[in-house]
Amino acid sequence: MSSPSATAPGVRLGDFRFRCIACGELSDRASQDFRCAHCGDLLEIIYPDWQQARPDAAQLKAAWLDRKISAKPADQSGVWRFRDLLPRIDSEEEAITLREGNTPLYELPRCARATGIPRLFAKHQGMNPTGSFKDAGMTVAATFARRAGFRWVACASTGNTSASMAAYAARGGLRSLVLVPEGKISWSKLSQALDYGAVTCQLRTDFDGCLRLLQQLVLRAPVYQLNSINPFRLEGQKTLAIELMEQLDWNAPDHIIVPGGNLGNSSAIGKAVVEMRDLGLISKMPKLSVIQAEGANALVRTLREAAGKRLVSVAAETRATAIRIGNPASWRKAAHVLEATSGACEQVSEVEIAEAKAEIGAEGIGCEPASAVTLAGLKKLIQERFVKPDETVVLVLTGNLLKDPEFTIDFHRGDMFKGGPSAGVSAEVDALRHPPLVLDATLDAVIRTLEQAEKS
Ligand code: F0G
Repeated sequence: MSSPSATAPGVRLGDFRFRCIACGELSDRASQDFRCAHCGDLLEIIYPDWQQARPDAAQLKAAWLDRKISAKPADQSGVWRFRDLLPRIDSEEEAITLREGNTPLYELPRCARATGIPRLFAKHQGMNPTGSFKDAGMTVAATFARRAGFRWVACASTGNTSASMAAYAARGGLRSLVLVPEGKISWSKLSQALDYGAVTCQLRTDFDGCLRLLQQLVLRAPVYQLNSINPFRLEGQKTLAIELMEQLDWNAPDHIIVPGGNLGNSSAIGKAVVEMRDLGLISKMPKLSVIQAEGANALVRTLREAAGKRLVSVAAETRATAIRIGNPASWRKAAHVLEATSGACEQVSEVEIAEAKAEIGAEGIGCEPASAVTLAGLKKLIQERFVKPDETVVLVLTGNLLKDPEFTIDFHRGDMFKGGPSAGVSAEVDALRHPPLVLDATLDAVIRTLEQAEKS
């Protein structure tokens, strides 16, 4: 392994700096673990130039629209199209892009009727090239890894980060090292990392154990870490919110609801809405709410039991394996954005997740279980009157339905809650199941099935 350039990874570009989220220390360079040299907390990227010469909101909006009809790869990317609000690269050709972003904003008419929220939308990040929201951050962070001269990139993952990292590394001519908890991620995500050529290690630990190890590794070996601790990832993930506002004609929704795992995405979306408000791109700030699985509820507990002052970590357990995280790295960033946007934090049960996932599936959209916590959480926030019927709500669906077929099949076959504490779940949940039928290969059998289905 050859060593990267001496200035890596915090190359001074002149248009951004690193700032510690706890002590505020500013720096032009970041160490390989992306932690503050002074106090050890996480770094974020800021743009001092915006203080001196604030970008003009109308000009930005016009430039972003213009780029939509351009054939250049960077303009066709739904991330680099918004590059004016990202760390600068010298030339657009430097961007490692799979034309990420450009994700649809769907109406959810059935869920809207069921919840009594007529203006209910889903921003489907599962429609990204590798099937999850990670691509928006990965295109930026992988580009900066290559810029800084690294040959190797690495991540700890519950599956989606590793799939995305492996793809962008392959596109960018980089090698990639994946650390995943053995037996705790879906086959579908694992298969992506293998196909994109990552060196894939299934470690006998959980996600938190993988991340701890990675943090040590990057201090010992010249590998560039691509977890969401890496602030370039969060800059890319900001574009989800920018694209969303553009899709809503710059009328910010009242609520954005997002799943919480390692808490990078909520931090990125929160940073984006604060920046957009400060730059005059939107006039109202949406409330950003984070939903966790009950069995992986570190942020919920941190806010309720420690008033957001110290992390209450948990031993995580949930079938929504993407968010099976007990020690979220970006908890402090997420707590800040909840405060800045006056958002809420809720938790939902395994049954509520499965039910919500089937309801999103019934819209003809589908998503992976971790994404479905948003709809389950919305139902709670309506009960608590935090969300009101006349408000506009956007659910961020983070991953594609095909990411976790085992979950979907177990649910529809009725195997999911068999014998467990939730066995005999409500008739309402049962009604959402569509089990596959095994029949004799006769016309009669198929017609009889059709008639029965028509009656039911
Ligand atoms: N939804 C999906 C589908 C995810 O894969 C993740 C995180 C989250 C939500 C939570 O986002 O961590 O930014 O709060 N997956 C990571 C991974 C941890 O390794 O793929 P977060």
